[in-house]
Amino acid sequence: MAIERTLSIIKPDATRRNLTGAINAKFEAAGLRIVAQKRIHLSPAQAGKFYEVHKARPFYGELVEFMSSEPVVVQVLEGEDAIAKNREVMGATNPEQAAEGTVRKEFALSIGENSVHGSDAPETAAVEIAYFFSGLELVG
Ligand code: CMP
Repeated sequence: MAIERTLSIIKPDATRRNLTGAINAKFEAAGLRIVAQKRIHLSPAQAGKFYEVHKARPFYGELVEFMSSEPVVVQVLEGEDAIAKNREVMGATNPEQAAEGTVRKEFALSIGENSVHGSDAPETAAVEIAYFFSGLELVG
C-alpha cells in the first residue's frame, strides 16, 4: 500500500461544538498523521469554489452557506492508503447510514451538517490540498 495524503475539513457544526480534538484523536488512532492544519473562516466565494463540482445539485446553496457560516479546520492527513482510510474513519455521508464508531455516526447532525469532509480520490486530493496549502506548509 502506498503512503498517500488527503484533504480533510472539520466542518462548522463540529468546530462550533469544540470537537476538533475528538475528531483528530480518531484520525490519529487510525494511523493518519496530521501533516498540516489551520483554522480558517471561508468566504461564500471560497466555499463555493471548493464545492464547484456540486454546483448543479439542489443542496449547493445550502452547502456553501453552511461551510462559510463559521470557522472550519482544514488539514492534510498522511498515511498508508490515507484516502480510503480517512473515508472509513469518517463513515457514510448520511450519518443515519454511518457505521458505529465513525466520526459521522458519533458527531454528525445531518447529511448537510456532517462534521467532516474528505477527498474521494488521489486526483481530487491533490487539487483539494493545493487549494488550501502550499508545499512549504506540508510537514511530514
Ligand atoms: P462532503 O463530503 O463535504 O461533500 C459534499 C457535501 O454535500 C457532503 O459532504 C454533504 O455535507 C453535502 N450534501 C450531500 N448531500 C446532501 C443533501 N442531500 N443535502 C444537503 N447537503 C448534502
